[in-house]
Amino acid sequence: MDKCKQEKHIFGKLLSYEVEENAINVKFEQKKVFVKIVNSYIINFFAPLFREERNSKAVEFLKDSHYDFDVENIENGIQISTEKLKVKIYDEFKVDIYDKEGTLLCADYRGEKDPFIRRTGDYQLAEAEGHNLNVDSDLKVYVSKQMEDDMYFYGLGEKSGHLNKKGYHYVNWNTDDPKPHGETFDRLYKSIPFLITLNKENAFGIFFDNHFETHFDMGRDNSKYYYFAAASGNLDYYFIYGPSVKNVVEGYTKITGNMPLPQMWTLGYQQCRWSYDNEERLMEIANSFREKGIPCDTLYLDIDYMDGYRVFTWNNERFENPEAMIKKLNSMGFKVVTIIDPGVKVDKGYKIYDEGLKNGYFATDKEGITYVNEVWPGDSVYPDFLNSKVRKWWAGNQKIMTDTGVSGIWNDMNEPASFRGPLPDDVMFDNDGIPVTHKEIHNVFGHMMAKATYEGLKKETGKRPFIVTRACYSGTQKYSTVWTGDNQSTWEHLRMSIPMLMNLGLSGMAFCGTDVGGFGHDCSAELLSRWVQVGTFTPLFRNHSTMGTRDQEPWAFDENTEEINRKYIKLRYKLLPYIYDTMWNCSKSGAPIIRPLLFNYQNDKNTYEINNEFLCGDNILVAPVVEQGVKGRMVYLPEGETWIDYWTKEEYKGGQYVIKETPLDTCPIFIKGGAVIPIGKEQNYIGEKQADKLTVEVYLCNENTETKYHHYIDDGESFKYQVGEFNNYKIKVINNEKVEIKFKVIDHEYDDKYENIEFILHNLNGKILIINGEAVKVVDGKAIISNPAK
Ligand code: GLC
Repeated sequence: MDKCKQEKHIFGKLLSYEVEENAINVKFEQKKVFVKIVNSYIINFFAPLFREERNSKAVEFLKDSHYDFDVENIENGIQISTEKLKVKIYDEFKVDIYDKEGTLLCADYRGEKDPFIRRTGDYQLAEAEGHNLNVDSDLKVYVSKQMEDDMYFYGLGEKSGHLNKKGYHYVNWNTDDPKPHGETFDRLYKSIPFLITLNKENAFGIFFDNHFETHFDMGRDNSKYYYFAAASGNLDYYFIYGPSVKNVVEGYTKITGNMPLPQMWTLGYQQCRWSYDNEERLMEIANSFREKGIPCDTLYLDIDYMDGYRVFTWNNERFENPEAMIKKLNSMGFKVVTIIDPGVKVDKGYKIYDEGLKNGYFATDKEGITYVNEVWPGDSVYPDFLNSKVRKWWAGNQKIMTDTGVSGIWNDMNEPASFRGPLPDDVMFDNDGIPVTHKEIHNVFGHMMAKATYEGLKKETGKRPFIVTRACYSGTQKYSTVWTGDNQSTWEHLRMSIPMLMNLGLSGMAFCGTDVGGFGHDCSAELLSRWVQVGTFTPLFRNHSTMGTRDQEPWAFDENTEEINRKYIKLRYKLLPYIYDTMWNCSKSGAPIIRPLLFNYQNDKNTYEINNEFLCGDNILVAPVVEQGVKGRMVYLPEGETWIDYWTKEEYKGGQYVIKETPLDTCPIFIKGGAVIPIGKEQNYIGEKQADKLTVEVYLCNENTETKYHHYIDDGESFKYQVGEFNNYKIKVINNEKVEIKFKVIDHEYDDKYENIEFILHNLNGKILIINGEAVKVVDGKAIISNPAK
């Protein structure tokens, strides 16, 4: 047995406790721990095993407030009771958590550690051939919990494999490994040490706020227990009670922060390529979108726009006058996003390098000498994003880009990546006066870079910053969107992207996406169309591919697939008001945009392991085709609803599997019976056409339904919504022998130009329609009223 996985007896006997405001300080023979009542359903357990103070980069804005709780002595321990939970703490800091009725939710494991047998033999030989044998590193912080037969595990951000993580082991160590990611990859670019456990319809989350290398084992070791562990650092974790997964996600985003509302244009279609490396080619791409009538809002510039890969510079041979070019693109309705990597070229006379060096802004070796490794520009140095002065400097540098007209920044290679071997553990950073090692901060390097970029863009533009980052940590959702790095144009990667995006969504990173069509390898016409169908519902909808692979723009194959791609990209634009509403909800409650079925249907166990379907918000179920040549597929429709086929308007009862035909132009989409979906005008880019009316589709069905929907609108770019400049329309639909709609204006501080409200009624079946108490005529399935807010 691997000795590192033994529980270490480091706390000793529980001696006494003392209550201090909203925390209970518990004294053990050898250590002191702090149990903080964040609220009645979130408890924080903190043992300063590494340093006295917390060093969280994820928890920034959580206010201390007081919630009632009691503490009492019980046999061999103490019991803390909140309105929702009972927490029992025993010797060796063993913790058991019950709901208030006394049902055990989460118990520390006390049994023998007997990992499944692993016969390694002379594993150096196998390693010599390049096999990875999963021999664990030394884990200094370690907590194991009792596993029940009926447990399901979700979250952990961007991980390979399936939706349910039971039986697997994952590592958080941000890693840029360009080999095709497979199920065997236990780590990728991002670290989100947040696990959701679902057990007999009771869910809870564990957020292990430790940014050293962390491990989560959901029963790979043994089916009797699961554990989380870290190479070093403090034991600092939050227990977040549900009982619904929804509440757990809400609790987690309460701690680590919510995704803020994005600018509206960021929800349009985005086109990228490594690289559109000169002005002529970029303009050709822009013109093609407009000529072909394929909507697009954003074009990206990858590393070749720079002068010798020097960040914050332009190559003026390839892009003679970037400012004029971007102006032109803006006038055509495009925004431009440029890549900015962290690696700064070692080059005397280059402003960014000189400034950084002079001020000591780069990471050093342990002797204090600037640390050099290699990235795109050759010899490169790494800005110390842990230092607030460096972040301020980096934030200020964004002005170089925004002054040229750039609308958003793409942060890449920020794991941080390096071409001459990994950064040694002892590369030093300055955490505002506390020296910290690379070993400690590796997993938050990208997070701190995104934070600096966010602050810069916010200050320079006054608008909601748009950033895409590859590496991140818990809480990065406050600053940036993420994409899942260098995938491949394979069906396997399209398949895997769905559980990956769903788990990212459950882990706070709701604004996420993949390289649509796949980054490495050649894409096929069929694969691109199927990927565009998924992308239509993915928050970040960006097509990207690497150099040397065949063209992958929506028109790159044949007329048939171009038409299909156009159809779905147009559908995305049609759904934008609904997607924006879903974003608004997410910004308040953390409820992800793209989410697993179990998020809304936790009482239907059939949903717990569905990998190839997802919900987009509350009202749309998508069952994409993720295999080549498939002409039909089975779709599970959750219990308790009627589901309406988006294309045919046929109705299906929930709680059953149905078979749908799937010719290449059909991605099965179902709308929840009774649902309201606001839709937008057909346009080439967001803002091309002003909406003079609000159009909502109402999906009626034979069942009686009663549904509520809130439609939100604001200026789609500024922060004025934070001071109330937005509108909130409430739409209630009661469908029985007649159909009654109650349309109400709740907030109306924004001038939205909706003169009228148009209802498109699907499956009305000749019923009488009443809106706000008055019978309204339906012509061609449509009814119009004037906007009561005007
Ligand atoms: C990395 C990124 C990729 C980008 C390339 C060049 O591989 O993941 O998206 O195109 O670098 O910048």
